[in-house]
Amino acid sequence: MKEKWYKPMAFYQVWPRSFKDGNGDGIGDLYGVLDKLEYIKSVGVDGIWFSPLYVSPNADYGYDIADYRNISPEYGDLAIFKKVLEKAHALGLKVVMDLVVNHTSDEHEWFQRSRRREAPYTDYYIWRPGKADGAPPNNWDSLFEGKAWAFDDVRGEYYLHLFAKKQPDLNMDNPAVREEVKAVMRFWLDMGVDGFREDVITFISKQAGLPDDPTPFARGMKYYKNGPHLREYLAEFRHDVLDQYDCFALGEAPMMTPEKALGFIAEGEGQTLDLMFHFQHMEADCFFTEYMHLPFRLRKLKRAFRRWQKKLAGKAWNTLYLENHDHPRIISRYGSEKYRAESGKTLAAAYLFQQGTPFVYQGQEIGMSNIALPSIDDYTDVLAKNNYKKYIKRQSPEKALRRIQRACRDSSRTPMQWSGGANAGFSEGEPWFALNPNYPEVNVAKEDADPDSLLNFYRAALSLRKNTPAAIWGDYREYRKISGKLYVYAREYEGQRLLVVCSFSEKPVRFKAPGGFRLEGKKPVLCNYPDAAVKNGGFVTRPYETRVYVL
Ligand code: NOJ
Repeated sequence: MKEKWYKPMAFYQVWPRSFKDGNGDGIGDLYGVLDKLEYIKSVGVDGIWFSPLYVSPNADYGYDIADYRNISPEYGDLAIFKKVLEKAHALGLKVVMDLVVNHTSDEHEWFQRSRRREAPYTDYYIWRPGKADGAPPNNWDSLFEGKAWAFDDVRGEYYLHLFAKKQPDLNMDNPAVREEVKAVMRFWLDMGVDGFREDVITFISKQAGLPDDPTPFARGMKYYKNGPHLREYLAEFRHDVLDQYDCFALGEAPMMTPEKALGFIAEGEGQTLDLMFHFQHMEADCFFTEYMHLPFRLRKLKRAFRRWQKKLAGKAWNTLYLENHDHPRIISRYGSEKYRAESGKTLAAAYLFQQGTPFVYQGQEIGMSNIALPSIDDYTDVLAKNNYKKYIKRQSPEKALRRIQRACRDSSRTPMQWSGGANAGFSEGEPWFALNPNYPEVNVAKEDADPDSLLNFYRAALSLRKNTPAAIWGDYREYRKISGKLYVYAREYEGQRLLVVCSFSEKPVRFKAPGGFRLEGKKPVLCNYPDAAVKNGGFVTRPYETRVYVL
């Protein structure tokens, strides 16, 4: 299980538009990233995953790519990208790119030529004539925007788009399309990047015949999720390209179970992906996605953590994350804005010491939280806008807006809060999107100077993980499983034991050390309150208290 370089590492995700503006136009860019590489390194990570940096009309902020071989002029150019890559490597940071090949932008040259039926692009996308009455070819829903088919006047046919209309799905059954994907991979790997996070990669193979789906919800998904040729195509990418480089492939896999995941990530013969981003632990306060809200339930979170820890043990390597650009901020969801630093620390300890490669999303390490903008016009994400349109069919505009404020992707896309100064130190120009008004309180400069800050807790936790073999390689064991307030787990490796206690409650909870753990007289190696004495085999927790012991 040990040989892969990414296993002891941790990664930092950059969503470039909101990370740091280096040229004063209000949009984050690679000049800003270049300037902040030392900061990223200082958080204690070993690599960066960049959300898409490529040329894009931004219908879905870079996840609609118009040119896979160029950097968006908003973010810089290939020359500055190469500088970032070189400096990152010099600092010992790996660089992972986003690879978005389920779909392109409709402004990509392939699509423009495909709609005009120009060879060899004619069948690069999934084109179908309508039904006899002119209706779309089947009843599938798009995940972002109404039905999954849009009619194109130029070609006189419908094209499939599982996401927004401006994101037509590629026809991966066409070998020429797979060759294009491989050429794109080689382009970036030859430049020196260290791997890919592969966007919704488990959707790339659609059921032949594209049948109508009787399911009432997310119609069509059962015909493209983990589709019939997925394994074969992933194996082809791996064999023809990825295996020739020292890199990893991390697949994004919505609606994935650990049992099915093993079919892709189990080590050994037949492995097609190194790692996987799965979602079950992101559903502890919602059904399916955060856009259908339920109260947060710690037991649901623990169950998801436990399943993935147990099922993958000794067979496959996990990824660990609580935030990215697709989810509202975790403190606002699973923690408490009132106890921002305390709950941020408990959340960090709850995931960073499990087995797997952790990812930290920009701003998570300083405890950035959700925003509530006054009008739907202030929101910018295609999904937020379309969800709002859906909601107001059944709800008042006020209620619909409250739902968006509570759960939308824009909440994790506000500019990074570098300081309490003008524009939170993000830009010298007018920022492209609203700042969270809490930036005078919540920012890197302030937390950097405060030894007890969340930022410094992340630094300590990541350093502890790296230097504690049990935290990386150890077996996972959970205690107090049925508690709805405490999450308690241990890792054990070659005689070393790590015990993590996390309270998810403002209220005092009595914690008693599990049998075999003697905590009396022991100091936690990490905690979020002073005076962490243990009496009578345990302690009573303070709001969102966390303690980590190495024994
Ligand atoms: C998943 C990405 O993370 C998300 O941001 C994007 O909108 C969809 N895939 C479509 O590319």
